[in-house]
Amino acid sequence: MFQTGTLEGSKPEQYAQLLEQARGLMHGERDRTANAANLSSLVFHALPDLNWVGFYFFDGTELVVGPFQGHPACVRIAIGRGVCGTAAATRETQRVPDVDAFPGHIPCDSASRSELVVPLFQGERLVGVFDLDSPRLDRFDEDDQRGLEAIAQAFIDSLPAA
Ligand code: SME
Repeated sequence: MFQTGTLEGSKPEQYAQLLEQARGLMHGERDRTANAANLSSLVFHALPDLNWVGFYFFDGTELVVGPFQGHPACVRIAIGRGVCGTAAATRETQRVPDVDAFPGHIPCDSASRSELVVPLFQGERLVGVFDLDSPRLDRFDEDDQRGLEAIAQAFIDSLPAA
């Protein structure tokens, strides 16, 4: 059984430990669905104040919901729409302190107050996005962004070469 240890120390130290756990969890496994499912569970249970953690994958046209933890979510999101579609279109992480102040935010879970979405690119190819929602306003700071971008990169690195 995979053991998830308690995270200790400063926030960057905790993210370094979480990254090691993520790498361990995906070690030797290249299946996208399996790794996305386990990563969603790992992060959802390791970090406080989250109500949704998961993946949307690009199907060649739009983003389609993939493995996640949390309540059922919107299935399809157009590129450029909402926080997820904006991350995919701009190729930049979207850190949204107040989702109600983000033009075009797509409410999936009414509990969500802040959100972080990391775009997933394998080279030039859009794979999808890694999305985290919190019921707390301004839940995500720069340490969270850096730590979760590193975990997203570990997921990209786990995929078979494009
Ligand atoms: N709020 C997102 C939609 C996905 S859910 O949060 C799971 C958005 O605006 O793109």
